[in-house]
Amino acid sequence: MKVVSSLSDFLNWRETLSKSLSIGFVPTMGALHEGHLSLVSSSIADANITVVSIFVNPKQFSENEDFDTYPRTLTEDLYKLKKLGVDVVFTPEIEDVYNKRVNSFSLKDPFSETLEGAARPHFFSGVINVVSRLFNIVNPSAAYFGEKDAQQLLLIEKLVSSAGLPINIVHGKTIREKNGLAMSSRNQYLSASAREAASCLYRSLLVAQQLLLNGVIDSNIIKDEMSKVLEKEEGVLVDYVSMVSLNGLREINGKVLGPALISIAVVLEGVRLIDNIFYTSMSRPMSTL
Ligand code: PAJ
Repeated sequence: MKVVSSLSDFLNWRETLSKSLSIGFVPTMGALHEGHLSLVSSSIADANITVVSIFVNPKQFSENEDFDTYPRTLTEDLYKLKKLGVDVVFTPEIEDVYNKRVNSFSLKDPFSETLEGAARPHFFSGVINVVSRLFNIVNPSAAYFGEKDAQQLLLIEKLVSSAGLPINIVHGKTIREKNGLAMSSRNQYLSASAREAASCLYRSLLVAQQLLLNGVIDSNIIKDEMSKVLEKEEGVLVDYVSMVSLNGLREINGKVLGPALISIAVVLEGVRLIDNIFYTSMSRPMSTL
């Protein structure tokens, strides 16, 4: 496994690759867990070459967020990636990514201003900026993103189609702890008891799933029942409980008539936690437990 940190070295290596090879790309901020590794395994299964980037992107953190303290575990990360059979890990410095030689795209979309975008106004412009730069550097045929960050995933799909990039965006299922808590690099900020309490996010999503399966389609009733599950848990501050239609990406305040993204954000012990499920009326919403 090659570990490359300079932009020039990476571009030189990229030039040596035959155009007939497929390149799978998994962008990450490191502190890798099973969620990241499942995306990496999918890329290894699908593509001739797998590139993983590890870059804690300052532009997606605001002043009062955890950029300085975000977990950085490079040695362990490299060990895990090597074991899976990754070809190249790109670990750029800030100057390599935010470099004049690297083009970026932006995306103006009302969906980027809702949900996570409403709570973290800088966030999606920072994500789109860095991901478009990494796409330009890596020039992959496919890129892998987790459903755990569903709004990010849907906006990256919009970016790729609006910029006309020839990149296949592949979804990875959310990987969860035994109690249902979606894996996240930030879970390590939580105490053991908070990690248990945080299972309420998934339990609340399962309540929504069950209500829909039972034929309850009023989103307001469903959101109320979800909120009750969250509010019962001590210390959990609810930011939003949302149902967005996948056709149009607008909040549903009435009947759920088609596929929807059901999502939640809460704050627990000062840590922002998000989770979601995709609901398609044709199939049972997925459980990865
Ligand atoms: P990061 O939080 O490191 O996540 C990297 C990728 O792993 C994202 O696609 C994310 O959705 C996915 N992921 C995280 N937890 C997961 C889980 N429990 N199950 C499945 N997939 C999971 O997301 C980012 O980094 C950054 O915003 C990035 C896209 C790298 C841009 O800086």
